[in-house]
Amino acid sequence: MRVVLLGPPGAGKGTQAKIISKVLSVPHISTGDIFMKNIREETELGIKAKEYIHKGLLVPDEVTIGLVENRLEEEDAGEGYLLDGFPRTLSQGEALLKHLESSHKMLDAVVFLDVPHEELLLRMEGRRVCSSCGASYHLTFNPPREMEVCDLCSGHLIIRKDDTEEAVKERLRVYESETKPLVHFFELKGLLRRVDGTKEIDEVTEDVLEALQIKV
Ligand code: AP5
Ligand code: MG
Ligand code: ZN
Repeated sequence: MRVVLLGPPGAGKGTQAKIISKVLSVPHISTGDIFMKNIREETELGIKAKEYIHKGLLVPDEVTIGLVENRLEEEDAGEGYLLDGFPRTLSQGEALLKHLESSHKMLDAVVFLDVPHEELLLRMEGRRVCSSCGASYHLTFNPPREMEVCDLCSGHLIIRKDDTEEAVKERLRVYESETKPLVHFFELKGLLRRVDGTKEIDEVTEDVLEALQIKV
Protein backbone atom coordinates (compact mmCIF):
# COMPACT_ATOMS: atom_id res chain seq x y z
CA MET A 1 0.00 0.00 0.00
CA ARG A 2 1.14 3.55 -0.74
CA VAL A 3 -0.18 5.97 1.84
CA VAL A 4 0.50 9.61 2.74
CA LEU A 5 -0.05 10.92 6.27
CA LEU A 6 -0.90 14.60 6.00
CA GLY A 7 -1.45 17.00 8.86
CA PRO A 8 -0.20 20.07 10.70
CA PRO A 9 2.98 20.03 12.81
CA GLY A 10 2.33 18.13 16.02
CA ALA A 11 -0.79 16.35 14.71
CA GLY A 12 0.66 12.93 15.52
CA LYS A 13 1.91 11.89 12.07
CA GLY A 14 5.13 10.42 13.42
CA THR A 15 3.40 8.71 16.35
CA GLN A 16 0.81 7.07 14.08
CA ALA A 17 3.28 6.30 11.27
CA LYS A 18 5.46 4.22 13.60
CA ILE A 19 2.45 2.00 14.42
CA ILE A 20 0.64 1.95 11.06
CA SER A 21 3.76 1.18 8.98
CA LYS A 22 4.24 -2.01 11.06
CA VAL A 23 0.63 -3.07 10.48
CA LEU A 24 0.97 -2.45 6.74
CA SER A 25 4.51 -3.94 6.62
CA VAL A 26 5.82 -0.98 4.65
CA PRO A 27 8.69 1.42 5.41
CA HIS A 28 7.91 4.62 7.31
CA ILE A 29 9.46 7.44 5.29
CA SER A 30 9.60 10.74 7.17
CA THR A 31 11.34 13.67 5.51
CA GLY A 32 11.55 15.35 8.92
CA ASP A 33 13.38 12.31 10.36
CA ILE A 34 15.71 12.12 7.33
CA PHE A 35 16.62 15.79 7.78
CA MET A 36 17.07 15.44 11.56
CA LYS A 37 19.40 12.44 11.09
CA ASN A 38 21.47 14.42 8.59
CA ILE A 39 21.63 17.36 10.99
CA ARG A 40 22.87 15.06 13.78
CA GLU A 41 25.49 13.54 11.49
CA GLU A 42 26.48 16.99 10.17
CA THR A 43 26.25 15.90 6.51
CA GLU A 44 26.16 18.43 3.67
CA LEU A 45 22.38 17.96 3.44
CA GLY A 46 22.07 18.41 7.21
CA ILE A 47 24.02 21.66 7.21
CA LYS A 48 21.81 23.03 4.43
CA ALA A 49 18.52 21.81 5.97
CA LYS A 50 19.33 23.10 9.44
CA GLU A 51 19.23 26.74 8.31
CA TYR A 52 15.57 26.34 7.41
CA ILE A 53 14.34 23.81 9.97
CA HIS A 54 15.49 25.61 13.10
CA LYS A 55 13.62 28.72 11.92
CA GLY A 56 10.47 26.71 11.26
CA LEU A 57 10.73 27.16 7.48
CA LEU A 58 10.43 24.47 4.81
CA VAL A 59 13.53 23.04 3.18
CA PRO A 60 13.35 24.14 -0.51
CA ASP A 61 11.50 21.84 -2.92
CA GLU A 62 14.64 21.48 -5.11
CA VAL A 63 16.33 19.68 -2.23
CA THR A 64 13.36 17.75 -0.87
CA ILE A 65 11.72 16.37 -4.02
CA GLY A 66 14.88 14.70 -5.38
CA LEU A 67 15.67 13.28 -1.97
CA VAL A 68 12.24 11.61 -1.68
CA GLU A 69 12.23 10.38 -5.28
CA ASN A 70 15.53 8.60 -4.63
CA ARG A 71 14.25 7.13 -1.39
CA LEU A 72 11.11 5.76 -3.10
CA GLU A 73 13.32 3.94 -5.59
CA GLU A 74 15.01 1.92 -2.84
CA GLU A 75 14.22 -1.76 -2.74
CA ASP A 76 12.26 -1.79 0.53
CA ALA A 77 9.74 0.71 -0.92
CA GLY A 78 8.93 -1.47 -3.93
CA GLU A 79 5.70 -2.84 -2.46
CA GLY A 80 4.60 0.33 -0.75
CA TYR A 81 5.40 2.95 1.87
CA LEU A 82 3.94 5.29 4.42
CA LEU A 83 4.98 8.89 3.78
CA ASP A 84 5.07 11.17 6.83
CA GLY A 85 5.65 14.89 6.22
CA PHE A 86 5.86 14.63 2.44
CA PRO A 87 4.35 16.13 0.37
CA ARG A 88 3.89 19.46 2.15
CA THR A 89 3.71 21.89 -0.78
CA LEU A 90 1.57 21.73 -3.93
CA SER A 91 4.74 21.28 -6.03
CA GLN A 92 5.73 18.29 -3.89
CA GLY A 93 2.22 16.83 -4.29
CA GLU A 94 2.38 17.20 -8.05
CA ALA A 95 5.91 15.76 -8.17
CA LEU A 96 4.82 12.71 -6.16
CA LEU A 97 1.87 11.95 -8.45
CA LYS A 98 4.07 12.44 -11.52
CA HIS A 99 6.72 10.13 -10.10
CA LEU A 100 4.10 7.44 -9.42
CA GLU A 101 2.57 7.84 -12.85
CA SER A 102 5.93 7.43 -14.56
CA SER A 103 6.39 4.09 -12.80
CA HIS A 104 2.74 3.04 -13.42
CA LYS A 105 1.93 3.00 -9.73
CA MET A 106 -0.87 4.59 -7.73
CA LEU A 107 -1.32 6.22 -4.37
CA ASP A 108 -3.94 4.35 -2.29
CA ALA A 109 -4.90 7.10 0.13
CA VAL A 110 -3.97 10.34 1.84
CA VAL A 111 -4.95 10.31 5.51
CA PHE A 112 -5.43 13.80 6.90
CA LEU A 113 -5.00 14.01 10.69
CA ASP A 114 -7.17 16.91 11.74
CA VAL A 115 -6.15 18.68 14.98
CA PRO A 116 -6.95 22.30 15.96
CA HIS A 117 -4.16 24.80 16.67
CA GLU A 118 -4.68 25.08 20.46
CA GLU A 119 -4.15 21.34 20.81
CA LEU A 120 -1.08 21.40 18.51
CA LEU A 121 0.57 23.98 20.76
CA LEU A 122 0.05 21.77 23.84
CA ARG A 123 1.42 18.75 22.01
CA MET A 124 4.60 20.43 20.82
CA GLU A 125 5.18 22.11 24.19
CA GLY A 126 5.35 18.77 25.99
CA ARG A 127 7.03 16.74 23.30
CA ARG A 128 10.26 14.84 23.87
CA VAL A 129 11.94 12.86 21.08
CA CYS A 130 14.46 10.05 21.12
CA SER A 131 17.89 11.27 20.02
CA SER A 132 18.68 7.86 18.49
CA CYS A 133 15.51 6.46 16.89
CA GLY A 134 13.32 9.57 16.61
CA ALA A 135 10.32 8.17 18.56
CA SER A 136 8.02 10.89 19.97
CA TYR A 137 6.79 11.08 23.54
CA HIS A 138 4.77 13.61 25.50
CA LEU A 139 5.34 14.49 29.14
CA THR A 140 1.59 14.25 29.88
CA PHE A 141 -0.17 12.56 26.95
CA ASN A 142 2.34 9.81 26.13
CA PRO A 143 5.06 9.63 28.78
CA PRO A 144 7.97 7.19 28.46
CA ARG A 145 8.14 4.38 31.05
CA GLU A 146 11.31 5.89 32.48
CA MET A 147 11.99 9.66 32.57
CA GLU A 148 14.17 10.85 29.67
CA VAL A 149 14.69 7.31 28.31
CA CYS A 150 13.22 5.90 25.07
CA ASP A 151 10.96 2.83 25.60
CA LEU A 152 11.99 1.41 22.23
CA CYS A 153 15.78 1.75 22.17
CA SER A 154 16.82 3.23 25.56
CA GLY A 155 18.09 6.35 23.73
CA HIS A 156 18.20 9.71 25.51
CA LEU A 157 15.08 11.91 25.12
CA ILE A 158 15.57 15.52 24.06
CA ILE A 159 13.55 18.62 23.13
CA ARG A 160 13.47 19.29 19.38
CA LYS A 161 15.31 22.43 18.27
CA ASP A 162 12.24 23.49 16.27
CA ASP A 163 9.86 23.14 19.22
CA THR A 164 10.70 26.62 20.54
CA GLU A 165 7.77 29.05 20.78
CA GLU A 166 9.11 31.11 17.84
CA ALA A 167 9.72 28.17 15.51
CA VAL A 168 6.37 26.53 16.36
CA LYS A 169 4.53 29.75 15.49
CA GLU A 170 6.37 29.92 12.16
CA ARG A 171 5.72 26.23 11.40
CA LEU A 172 1.98 26.71 11.93
CA ARG A 173 2.00 29.78 9.69
CA VAL A 174 3.92 27.92 6.97
CA TYR A 175 1.54 24.97 7.31
CA GLU A 176 -1.50 27.20 6.70
CA SER A 177 -0.05 28.82 3.60
CA GLU A 178 2.03 26.02 2.01
CA THR A 179 0.69 22.66 3.19
CA LYS A 180 -3.03 23.09 3.87
CA PRO A 181 -3.84 23.60 0.16
CA LEU A 182 -2.89 19.92 -0.28
CA VAL A 183 -6.05 18.90 1.59
CA HIS A 184 -8.18 20.28 -1.22
CA PHE A 185 -5.71 19.04 -3.86
CA PHE A 186 -6.04 15.40 -2.70
CA GLU A 187 -9.78 15.77 -2.05
CA LEU A 188 -10.26 16.65 -5.73
CA LYS A 189 -8.30 13.51 -6.67
CA GLY A 190 -10.65 11.42 -4.49
CA LEU A 191 -7.76 10.27 -2.28
CA LEU A 192 -8.42 12.18 0.96
CA ARG A 193 -9.54 10.38 4.15
CA ARG A 194 -10.18 12.71 7.10
CA VAL A 195 -9.45 11.41 10.59
CA ASP A 196 -10.12 13.22 13.87
CA GLY A 197 -6.63 13.43 15.38
CA THR A 198 -7.75 14.79 18.75
CA LYS A 199 -8.70 11.39 20.20
CA GLU A 200 -6.41 9.11 22.24
CA ILE A 201 -3.44 7.67 20.32
CA ASP A 202 -4.88 4.13 20.02
CA GLU A 203 -8.30 5.44 18.96
CA VAL A 204 -6.66 7.51 16.22
CA THR A 205 -4.79 4.38 15.07
CA GLU A 206 -8.09 2.48 14.84
CA ASP A 207 -9.68 5.30 12.85
CA VAL A 208 -6.73 5.50 10.46
CA LEU A 209 -6.88 1.73 9.83
CA GLU A 210 -10.62 1.98 9.30
CA ALA A 211 -10.11 4.82 6.82
CA LEU A 212 -7.68 2.56 4.97
CA GLN A 213 -10.16 -0.33 5.22
CA ILE A 214 -7.62 -2.48 7.04
CA LYS A 215 -8.93 -5.06 9.51
CA VAL A 216 -6.59 -6.23 12.26
P1 AP5 B 1 8.66 17.13 10.64
O1 AP5 B 1 9.59 16.39 11.51
O2 AP5 B 1 7.86 16.38 9.66
O3 AP5 B 1 7.75 18.04 11.55
P2 AP5 B 1 6.21 18.46 11.46
O4 AP5 B 1 5.46 18.17 10.23
O5 AP5 B 1 6.24 19.85 11.90
O6 AP5 B 1 5.51 17.50 12.37
P3 AP5 B 1 5.97 17.02 13.73
O7 AP5 B 1 7.01 15.95 13.58
O8 AP5 B 1 6.28 18.21 14.59
O9 AP5 B 1 4.63 16.42 14.31
P4 AP5 B 1 3.96 15.02 14.08
O10 AP5 B 1 2.72 15.23 13.32
O11 AP5 B 1 4.92 13.99 13.60
O12 AP5 B 1 3.55 14.73 15.57
P5 AP5 B 1 4.15 13.71 16.66
O13 AP5 B 1 3.75 12.32 16.33
O14 AP5 B 1 5.57 14.00 16.92
O15 AP5 B 1 9.48 18.22 9.88
C1 AP5 B 1 10.39 19.05 10.56
C2 AP5 B 1 10.91 20.12 9.65
O16 AP5 B 1 11.63 19.51 8.56
C3 AP5 B 1 9.84 20.98 8.97
O17 AP5 B 1 9.43 22.05 9.78
C4 AP5 B 1 10.58 21.44 7.71
O18 AP5 B 1 11.48 22.47 8.02
C5 AP5 B 1 11.40 20.23 7.35
N1 AP5 B 1 10.67 19.35 6.42
C6 AP5 B 1 10.17 18.10 6.67
N2 AP5 B 1 9.56 17.61 5.59
C7 AP5 B 1 9.65 18.56 4.63
C8 AP5 B 1 9.17 18.64 3.30
N3 AP5 B 1 8.46 17.66 2.74
N4 AP5 B 1 9.44 19.77 2.61
C9 AP5 B 1 10.17 20.77 3.15
N5 AP5 B 1 10.63 20.76 4.40
C10 AP5 B 1 10.37 19.67 5.14
O19 AP5 B 1 3.26 14.15 17.91
C11 AP5 B 1 3.41 15.43 18.50
C12 AP5 B 1 3.28 15.33 20.03
O20 AP5 B 1 1.94 14.97 20.37
C13 AP5 B 1 4.16 14.25 20.66
O21 AP5 B 1 4.60 14.74 21.89
C14 AP5 B 1 3.21 13.05 20.83
O22 AP5 B 1 3.60 12.21 21.89
C15 AP5 B 1 1.88 13.74 21.09
N6 AP5 B 1 0.72 13.02 20.53
C16 AP5 B 1 0.65 12.34 19.34
N7 AP5 B 1 -0.60 11.85 19.15
C17 AP5 B 1 -1.34 12.24 20.23
C18 AP5 B 1 -2.70 12.04 20.61
N8 AP5 B 1 -3.56 11.35 19.84
N9 AP5 B 1 -3.11 12.58 21.78
C19 AP5 B 1 -2.24 13.28 22.58
N10 AP5 B 1 -0.95 13.49 22.27
C20 AP5 B 1 -0.49 12.97 21.11
MG1 MG C 1 6.95 14.01 12.99
ZN1 ZN D 1 14.56 5.46 20.64
